[in-house]
Amino acid sequence: MNSLFLRAFCVLLCFLFYGFFQAGYATTSIREQDEYRFKEPALWAEQFDAPSRDKWQKPQAVIQALQLKPGQTVADIGAGTGYFAIKFARVVGPQGRVIALDRESSMVRYLKKRAKKESLNNLIVRKSPKNNPGLEKQSVDLIFFCNSYHHIHNPNYLKALAKALKKNGKVAVIDIKPNAPRLFPATARFKRHIKLSAQAVVADFKQAGFSLDKEFGFLPYQYFLEFKPTSIASSK
Ligand SMILES: C[S@@+](CC[C@H](N)C(=O)[O-])C[C@H]1O[C@@H](n2cnc3c(N)ncnc32)[C@H](O)[C@@H]1O
Repeated sequence: MNSLFLRAFCVLLCFLFYGFFQAGYATTSIREQDEYRFKEPALWAEQFDAPSRDKWQKPQAVIQALQLKPGQTVADIGAGTGYFAIKFARVVGPQGRVIALDRESSMVRYLKKRAKKESLNNLIVRKSPKNNPGLEKQSVDLIFFCNSYHHIHNPNYLKALAKALKKNGKVAVIDIKPNAPRLFPATARFKRHIKLSAQAVVADFKQAGFSLDKEFGFLPYQYFLEFKPTSIASSK
């Protein structure tokens, strides 16, 4: 009787371990393979480029705050379907350049087509690896993230940015306040929503050798931070 009970207990234990292992594995594989990937540009474009976004995204006020000028070079990291990249390309004009980077090949193809359709020859769209923006040394005036830094969240990634900035260059981060409503309904497909506070972003930048230079408070659902590299970070 005792040995029967022991065997049943062992079988139960095996089942429990197997279930536990499977659950853990499933979580990892969903996160790594499917979650937080933006593979259907047309679906995302309906949301990222919806005219209603302008009401809360205030793109003209953002461009004004960034003091963007004709002739400047901007890198838009995680440019997606090009909501900001297209607007930036119009502002910097034919003497300037916008380098739109995204890790998703499908987004890159989509935005390349969009740039061609809108005859924006100064909008260069490139696929960038997950852990490296691949920007040339001292090549850009502004590095911009909108709703993309929470997917990166890595001070080591930021270290490379200081070297890519020209003299007086800066990095701007707009990202979603943790208590904001879901801005894009399609993100409901993700199991969880990544929440990254402004304080955590500031800590990452400090660790990477930047200091917070400006903070704008006019966006209702997002924080908007501007960083400058310390002299040590840009010379390294
Ligand atoms: C929520 S979308 C934001 C798109 C755009 N910036 C906007 O405001 O409409 C995030 C984008 O960042 C891209 N992304 C995520 N991680 C990235 C990384 N490590 N490097 C480059 N792009 C990344 C995604 O593929 C996606 O297109």
